[in-house]
Amino acid sequence: MKENSTITEAAPVEGAPRAGKSAFIRTYGCQMNAYDSERMAGLLRPLGYEIVDAPEAADLVILNTCHIREKAAEKVYSDLGRLRAVKSEREAVGADMMIAVAGCVAQAEGGEIIERMPIVDMVFGPQAYHRLPEMLARTARSRGDILDTDFAVEEKFDRLALARDIEGPTAFLTIQEGCDKFCTFCVVPYTRGAEVSRETEAIVAEARMLAARGVREVTLLGQNVNAWRAAPARDPLGAPIAAREDGVWGLGQLCRHLARIEGIERIRFTTSHPRDMDADLIAAFGEEEALMPYLHLPVQSGADRILAAMNRGHTEAEYAATIARLRAARPDIALSGDFIVGFPGETDEDFEATLAHVERTGYAASFSFKYSRRPGTPAAAMAKQVAEPVKEERLARLQALLEAQRVAFNEAQIGKVLPVLFEKPGRNPGQLVGKSPYLQSVHASAPESMLGKIAPARIEGVTPRALAGVICGDGR
Ligand code: SAH
Ligand code: SF4
Ligand code: F3S
Repeated sequence: MKENSTITEAAPVEGAPRAGKSAFIRTYGCQMNAYDSERMAGLLRPLGYEIVDAPEAADLVILNTCHIREKAAEKVYSDLGRLRAVKSEREAVGADMMIAVAGCVAQAEGGEIIERMPIVDMVFGPQAYHRLPEMLARTARSRGDILDTDFAVEEKFDRLALARDIEGPTAFLTIQEGCDKFCTFCVVPYTRGAEVSRETEAIVAEARMLAARGVREVTLLGQNVNAWRAAPARDPLGAPIAAREDGVWGLGQLCRHLARIEGIERIRFTTSHPRDMDADLIAAFGEEEALMPYLHLPVQSGADRILAAMNRGHTEAEYAATIARLRAARPDIALSGDFIVGFPGETDEDFEATLAHVERTGYAASFSFKYSRRPGTPAAAMAKQVAEPVKEERLARLQALLEAQRVAFNEAQIGKVLPVLFEKPGRNPGQLVGKSPYLQSVHASAPESMLGKIAPARIEGVTPRALAGVICGDGR
């Protein structure tokens, strides 16, 4: 699962009348949160809420939060500080504003949030969203604070399955939640709970619904997406797909099956753990055309000593062997990784091992972070915390190398023809933006009728964040 610092807001309903109530949802953190926000919007609309794009006019504000690093968690409190002023302005004119904190900070801090910020009316964790209508009714009746941080993942999957709005040809689809890996730096096992796989039939039903609404690319989501396993699909949609030895399907089998759904042309998944890359999944990259040649496979560090202290459960050589198998199956596969610098006890030598790992591996994309001490995690209590200036210097050196690799990967596409799925209008008139198989943004001059289609584009140049292409064939 990729956390990043961008903040997305649930799309407003264009042209909807300003009647009834309105809600504003701010999403922090990873794609799982983005997916959950979409679903909360999908639950609120039937209750008469219009989704608006600013908090000032909203009767209900939901902050869907992230706890992964200190900065992410503190951002919520600074936003709540600003909302306090907005809420009192509304109250001054006799209007009300209900404020809810959802997501991983809610799960981790619970009632402390209300103690620290009394303007907050509701705190509920990622497993409670399906109870949102009930919670809203209860606060409206009693105006008492609500706290709901129970874990009941399966029920959430069942109850939220189809409550969402889709725009454009790409969509996320959650297939797995939670994490049992307990990396010593990470809060996710505590905020999202144990690994739970969603049932195959429910995933297939959602994928069909997405395809029926024009989605052509699905990104399967899970904190440990390749740990997914469940009973095989009842309807084989063609030749049966062999199960694993334990009689269940893994992610490779699921991808092969979803690729048979009419309309689904591209499949991606994120985030995978190196320990869960099984042989069938690796083979699927070579055999299944719909499985895009791009894999986000976080390594975190290139030093075995640090990998052990992080409890990653693999060595650098084991990770490298997995990459070699992937490249044997799909030679053009593009890799993306996550890295942490300055984990407690990381020496200069350990850090050099990370740089050497990156040099050897070659990453097309990456996310890299300074280690952030998270309360309650084992690493927070470890001796030899690394000083901030050391972390900063290491991060700068690592990012310079990773950025050079990213640019080199993009420049290597010049002259190639890549199939591009066009997703939305570009910044300039007459331009559309889409994605290459390697998840690069590609800009090209194209008519609006090309939106939602896959067309070949010759790559003629690179811009700082994207590729510039010229369409050289029909869209389909
Ligand atoms: N299951 C996902 C986890 C998502 S968290 C995975 O294993 O990739 C996304 C990334 O945030 C992690 O890969 C890690 O690089 C980073 N991260 C997590 N906890 C962190 C911490 N305490 N300090 C700095 N970075 C952290
Ligand atoms: Fe966190 Fe590790 Fe689980 Fe990823 S695998 S969510 S980094 S504990
Ligand atoms: Fe995602 Fe952040 Fe929670 S990365 S799982 S929203 S802690």
